[in-house]
Amino acid sequence: MPFRLLIPLGLLCALLPQHHGAPGPDGSAPDPAHYRERVKAMFYHAYDSYLENAFPFDELRPLTCDGHDTWGSFSLTLIDALDTLLILGNVSEFQRVVEVLQDSVDFDIDVNASVFETNIRVVGGLLSAHLLSKKAGVEVEAGWPCSGPLLRMAEEAARKLLPEYNKAIRNYTRFDDWYLWVQMYKGTVSMPVFQSLEAYWPGLQSLIGDIDNAMRTFLNYYTVWKQFGGLPEFYNIPQGYTVEKREGYPLRPELIESAMYLYRATGDPTLLELGRDAVESIEKISKVECGFATIKDLRDHKLDNRMESFFLAETVKYLYLLFDPTNFIHNNGSTFDAVITPYGECILGAGGYIFNTEAHPIDPAALHCCQRLKEEQWEVEDLMREFYSLKRSRSKFQKNTVSSGPWEPPARPGTLFSPENHDQARERKPAKQKVPLLSCPSQPFTSKLALLGQVFLDSS
Ligand SMILES: *[C@@H]1O[C@H](CO)[C@@H](O)[C@H](O)[C@H]1NC(C)=O
Ligand SMILES: *[C@@H]1O[C@H](CO)[C@@H](O)[C@H](O)[C@H]1NC(C)=O
Ligand SMILES: *[C@@H]1O[C@H](CO)[C@@H](O)[C@H](O)[C@H]1NC(C)=O
Ligand SMILES: *[C@@H]1O[C@H](CO)[C@@H](O)[C@H](O)[C@H]1NC(C)=O
Repeated sequence: MPFRLLIPLGLLCALLPQHHGAPGPDGSAPDPAHYRERVKAMFYHAYDSYLENAFPFDELRPLTCDGHDTWGSFSLTLIDALDTLLILGNVSEFQRVVEVLQDSVDFDIDVNASVFETNIRVVGGLLSAHLLSKKAGVEVEAGWPCSGPLLRMAEEAARKLLPEYNKAIRNYTRFDDWYLWVQMYKGTVSMPVFQSLEAYWPGLQSLIGDIDNAMRTFLNYYTVWKQFGGLPEFYNIPQGYTVEKREGYPLRPELIESAMYLYRATGDPTLLELGRDAVESIEKISKVECGFATIKDLRDHKLDNRMESFFLAETVKYLYLLFDPTNFIHNNGSTFDAVITPYGECILGAGGYIFNTEAHPIDPAALHCCQRLKEEQWEVEDLMREFYSLKRSRSKFQKNTVSSGPWEPPARPGTLFSPENHDQARERKPAKQKVPLLSCPSQPFTSKLALLGQVFLDSS
């Protein structure tokens, strides 16, 4: 593993000043209440500036104090920031934005949108906001959480993407590119270089209980953060320095995300220190009058005229959650809401939220609950059937993949999905599953890499 090579570097970095920006000279752990307020102020500085200068464009341009469309012209930053508002406790603004989005966002427009980015940011943001809307005091309709205006918007956006999505699956499966891409994303790189996007890895390690390794990997990344006051997009490990043309830090969340998960698991104050360093250096380097600007070069702190929507969707959210141990997102199941729907009783808000790739939390219990709406599930199954019939000739991939039905409780054994047992599976559904309401079956690690319920296993 290339990460191991960072250990000698860690020794070198130990000689550098460690606690730049620490609030007290006594070396005590950062005060969570203080940093909660700092993170909130950071959010509102950026959010208010977006509303004032950039809405309805996708993103704020913080150096010129205006806006531009980047991912399809859907007021992306507003959609992406919506659930963060609730996590920060701002229900009135959440309610206002829900109204604004329903009035202003139109998916029936001719734009070239990225399938991947639109899916994680727009569809994910709307789904998450839909599931959180009752908690935010929005008046919900009778069928909620299985129906509602934001869910319908998410569905409309998703339907626009589906044809391209299927095409992409077809292409990537055929040419093995997708598989290769998954491997790269997992960090199995062939060069001694790390990419900042991989810094989410310790968080995943901690989720599967591999705490010691997760902490070691995290500390390696943290030494690089301390070296630059941010994580460069690429880093050459033997040289201990940035890679040409990849010296920037666009305020990405991955290392902070890892710190949040690891802090939940260990309570180690070193993780709060990363949070403190992140707040201090982002404010020092990237804060400008109209928001927070992408750091173009960590060596000289030059800025770019861009504030990516993931800054408010992810970076600020994970920072706040790191410093807010009693946030509803961290619920351990000790409280929950019982919601009566036309489809039966749903137990919601008990915790176990799954964050999508853009940090939009999804309550898995809602998926379980709305599973009773079978018709929509059948449509996805039909897509799966199409996918399988395309793949049937590719024995290599059949060997390397396992499957589970989309929207099925993942822990249910023996539900291998294929066209052959499709009808049988459909018949089985009316029989009530005896899954205890509060249990949230944990996903196998490999389904983190699932695509429409299809899991790609790493065979290397
Ligand atoms: C909620 O957000 C709005 C818009 O930024 C702001 O004016 C308001 O003060 C916020 N309310 C709370 C309780 O933070
Ligand atoms: C989308 O991309 C295609 C191909 O590059 C181009 O011909 C078309 O004009 C673009 N449409 C819009 C709305 O930008
Ligand atoms: C899939 O491949 C076809 C033919 O090779 C190409 O024309 C098409 O643009 C590709 N689609 C995607 C989504 O990559
Ligand atoms: C769950 O959370 C509650 C409230 O924060 C706390 O009192 C309780 O001790 C926690 N239970 C476990 C098993 O961690």
